[in-house]
Amino acid sequence: MKKPLQLTVNGELRQIFVETWYSLLDTLRDELHLTGVKKGCDEGDCGACTVFLDGKPVTSCMVLAHNARNSNVTTIEGLGSVEALHPVQQAFVDYGGLQCGFCIPGLIMSGAALLDRNPDPTEEEVRIAIGGNLCRCTGYSKVVQAILAAAETARSR
Ligand code: FES
Ligand code: FES
Repeated sequence: MKKPLQLTVNGELRQIFVETWYSLLDTLRDELHLTGVKKGCDEGDCGACTVFLDGKPVTSCMVLAHNARNSNVTTIEGLGSVEALHPVQQAFVDYGGLQCGFCIPGLIMSGAALLDRNPDPTEEEVRIAIGGNLCRCTGYSKVVQAILAAAETARSR
């Protein structure tokens, strides 16, 4: 049964009707058409669906939409803009930290969350931070390089 749900997504107040059993992931993709949020495993294992919930990274497939009521959600679409990419987004472009791209929104969100709490991470800390994000293409080296470069850029601003 659909019930009213209010939440703020990428800075915009959204009021929608959502099934009580819908995940935050399905709500973002199917109801709000934010398809930058990817659906990989749908069971909390791959990290492709990572978004910020009240500033903290979560796997949105594991959150019931109604449990996010009145929360602030940030997706990859709200992290930066086309005119002003987030430093982690820009570094993925600059360092070629992607191949097929499916896992990349989740990896960028995890990278951005790391830099929020630790602006000067070591390589090991980056690898730990993205440990829940599975990528079958890149081998992670350029991803790690990109996040470290983004940290340096952000610190020099
Ligand atoms: S789709 Fe959510 S963790 Fe894989
Ligand atoms: S770039 Fe293809 S799964 Fe990561």
